Amino acid sequence: MVYHKGLHRYSVILAVCTFGLIFAGGLVTSTGSGLSVPDWPNTYGYFMFAFPIDKMVGGIVYEHTHRMIASVVGLLTVILAIWLGKKEERKWLRVLGYVAVAAVIAQGVLGGLTVLYLLPVSISVGHAALAQTFFAIVCAIALFTSRWWGEEHSLSADNVGRRLVWLSIGTTAAVYIQLIFGALMRHTHSGLVVPDFPLAWGQLFPSLSPDAIASYNSRLIDANLWLAADGQVTGGQILIHMLHRLWAVVVTVMIIWTAISILRNRLLEKRVRVFGYYLISFIILQITLGAFTVLTRKAVDITTLHVAVGALILVTCVLLSLHAAKIYGVRRSPASVPVATKVENQAKGMEAIV
Ligand code: HEM
Ligand code: HEM
Repeated sequence: MVYHKGLHRYSVILAVCTFGLIFAGGLVTSTGSGLSVPDWPNTYGYFMFAFPIDKMVGGIVYEHTHRMIASVVGLLTVILAIWLGKKEERKWLRVLGYVAVAAVIAQGVLGGLTVLYLLPVSISVGHAALAQTFFAIVCAIALFTSRWWGEEHSLSADNVGRRLVWLSIGTTAAVYIQLIFGALMRHTHSGLVVPDFPLAWGQLFPSLSPDAIASYNSRLIDANLWLAADGQVTGGQILIHMLHRLWAVVVTVMIIWTAISILRNRLLEKRVRVFGYYLISFIILQITLGAFTVLTRKAVDITTLHVAVGALILVTCVLLSLHAAKIYGVRRSPASVPVATKVENQAKGMEAIV
């Protein structure tokens, strides 16, 4: 594989811009500015880039800025795909570049549709989930174009190695599910239906009986947390909220298990072992942010950081899975036994003869 330094650096920059875009999108939802600009693709009838700066007030600042950053990221993605198409010899990577373009276009259309249909839950959740998926694709492209990916890193695919590959893929899936639960919570307005933490309405799992729900409603209204105009809190919303909290336990256990497996594996190079430290730091930060999202009654900065760190956890898991798959391989067939394994097997054979 030929290493193109410029192409790799460019994809890293695109990944950083995408992270900024996710933060900007999170701000749109956290500030409730999703409908500040009611039309799309125009902004109050103006071509997006011709919208007068003095009219950027209130929620329009968040929504319009988000659209502009999204357009820049879209353009950068098209340039990346063209660049890959011209310079990259691996066909699957060229195809991944086109997949990124398709994802960014679909994401823009979902963003527009969620405005035109007044933020329906399904489209807003789809927009939130595709944002994270797109970020993961761009980060994967940055890894595939790196010098490290082109070098030989195979280790013997023993049980420990194979377990690490599947553990990191499983952890990635668990995190992805958690992001969807989080988006469901956000767009069904279930973030504050359980206002205490770590207990939930003073219980491990809140009662969902009609009497209990009626009492939660009156307590929320008394505490000025939930206005009657928001409608009654429902059992469904409480279930969605609890699903996110309980699944957080599963995700935390899997992340710590994965992190410990990497840190204890002395054969892995430092570059891979640091993922263990990232994972542990991010999960502690994320649970703290989740708790404070509830306890600060969804402070805009804390809540948006919670969305952004969720994205960081996802890409850390995706990149770790790709590193593990590169080092140990995903499948083990005689034809694909890594070079190091062949050498070790030969050595074992020699020992047996001696
Ligand atoms: C690459 C393109 C884009 C990315 C990565 C992206 C990302 C995001 C993210 C992460 C959120 C926060 C979701 C949440 O917190 O649950 C969001 C919200 C939002 N985005 Fe985008 N976005 C993109 C393009 C667009 C475009 C072109 C529009 C056009 C109108 C748009 C409109 C919105 C709206 C209205 C919200 C708020 C939704 C709500 O509150 O229900 N987005 N975006
Ligand atoms: C395993 C760790 C966790 C991860 C990866 C995670 C991730 C997320 C993400 C990505 C979102 C927003 C999704 C979106 O709209 O795009 C979210 C929402 C939310 N999370 Fe978490 N979360 C975790 C743990 C927690 C914990 C322990 C709590 C504490 C109760 C919590 C409370 C919340 C709340 C209240 C919201 C909704 C905020 C709103 O309505 O605006 N999270 N979570």
